[in-house]
Amino acid sequence: MKIKIIGFNIIAIGIAIIIMSATLQQKPWVIPEKYKSMKSTVKTSAASIAAGKVLWEKHCKSCHGSLGKGDGVKAKTLKTTCGDMSTAKIQSESDGELYYQSFVGRDEMTNFEKKIPDNTDRWNLINFIRSLKK
Ligand code: HEC
Repeated sequence: MKIKIIGFNIIAIGIAIIIMSATLQQKPWVIPEKYKSMKSTVKTSAASIAAGKVLWEKHCKSCHGSLGKGDGVKAKTLKTTCGDMSTAKIQSESDGELYYQSFVGRDEMTNFEKKIPDNTDRWNLINFIRSLKK
């Protein structure tokens, strides 16, 4: 009898943890107004995408994977999923939204403002992300 109750509690706690982590993963981004209206200052081009790719491989690939599928080597060690950059959901986000997520970040998506200080570099990276569209 006691064992049954303990077993039930373990299952209930397990389910609660699964539900909690699922909702944590879907937490919507809150993008400040200042960023929402931001527009890219670097027109997309093969050269810009190539420059963005170099930065992507250095700073982002470890978690997001080379094609942004969210399958980088570090992805498995994270609590939150990295998302899939090729999806309409992410591709439909505005320049400023992608910029905020990429450089200001939150939680496991760490801040890159110091590591990538140059504005042209930053927009090159966003142009690379846009090139991952399906
Ligand atoms: C340590 C692992 C890690 C690294 C390195 C990393 N990211 Fe992320 N990234 C994440 C995680 C985890 C999320 C999801 C965060 C969340 O939803 O709270 C994320 C989310 C994002 C998003 C938002 C996706 C969406 O769902 O709208 C963008 C854009 C992004 N990252 C860009 C970048 C760029 C650009 C770089 C490199 C400069 C980078 N990331 C480096 C882990 C990482």
